[in-house]
Amino acid sequence: MRVNGTPFRTIWLAEDGARVEVIDQTALPDRFEVQSVATVEQMATAIRTMVVRGAPLIGVAGAYGLALAMREDPSDARLEAAHAALFETRPTAVNLRWALDRVLAALAPASPTERASLAYRLAAEIAEEDVAACAKIGEHGAALLRAEWERRGRPDPFHVLTHCNAGWLATVDWGTALAPVYRLFDEGVPVHVWVDETRPRNQGALTYWELSQHGVPCTFIADNAGGLLMLRGQVHACIVGSDRTTRSGDVCNKIGTYLKALAARDAEIPFYVALPASTLDLTLRDGSSIPIEERAASEVTTRPGVRAANPAFDVTPARLVTKIITERGVCDASEGAIVALHGG
Ligand code: MRU
Repeated sequence: MRVNGTPFRTIWLAEDGARVEVIDQTALPDRFEVQSVATVEQMATAIRTMVVRGAPLIGVAGAYGLALAMREDPSDARLEAAHAALFETRPTAVNLRWALDRVLAALAPASPTERASLAYRLAAEIAEEDVAACAKIGEHGAALLRAEWERRGRPDPFHVLTHCNAGWLATVDWGTALAPVYRLFDEGVPVHVWVDETRPRNQGALTYWELSQHGVPCTFIADNAGGLLMLRGQVHACIVGSDRTTRSGDVCNKIGTYLKALAARDAEIPFYVALPASTLDLTLRDGSSIPIEERAASEVTTRPGVRAANPAFDVTPARLVTKIITERGVCDASEGAIVALHGG
């Protein structure tokens, strides 16, 4: 996607072919800064502190983290330690585990002399696959949104509500939930996006920034405004991303997603979830065992003496999800439909 007219991805290899460069998402939307990551420790810190964030992107960042570790020391011990250090940075998004395990499985049987180049190759491959998956999600999701727009008599504007940031900043390019929005906008549908602020980390500010960079009309709202807008008929569809979706279609995503899905159900508004297949955790029957990241209370309040809790994700039961969109197509949020489309 473009930043002030220049094409960017969220993560890429530096000119020296060794360091990894990332857009620093903690500086956005105030400043656009690129951070250079030279070691696996720096990559683990970048993931933990959310310099890079979003389920697909932290998977790719983790893969590059293993490559950085192998460049320094390609031993078995280092490989295992680097995998463990990266794995524990953020527990909820399954893409991190998926990417780390994929690289580990390929590197473990390889000779140490080959490991660094193999890891860089795999990380680049995972990044390219993510771009291709998100482009496909854009295609399938745009068709779904367009059908809803037409079913409603082509409202102008066509109001879509999203929560958190599931745009290109959360992936390598395009995004998951926002990929269909970009596509629809580019096709000339008069889409407008209600952007949930997404307390406490305010990922909505990232969403607003990237939509605006693309020229998509959008409005920033407090998290609790969505219900009112839905009941007033000012939301035609909701679309969000996911950090982990189970084989039964339970959707784990940023805290507050569940409340939006509840409100959408009451207001008879479709609630779509867009994710690459790498976000599916087919080992889990339902969402009750998904590890929910607890982040620092200081993200919620800095007032002295105030006790705060900060669960970063919640689980929306499959019954509240209208459709799941992946690179394979669109399906119901049910075990039969998910497995039929994705195998496993
Ligand atoms: O804590 P974050 O900012 O990493 O959480 C991100 C989300 O919850 C996104 O909605 C999710 O990762 C899907 S991103 C394509």
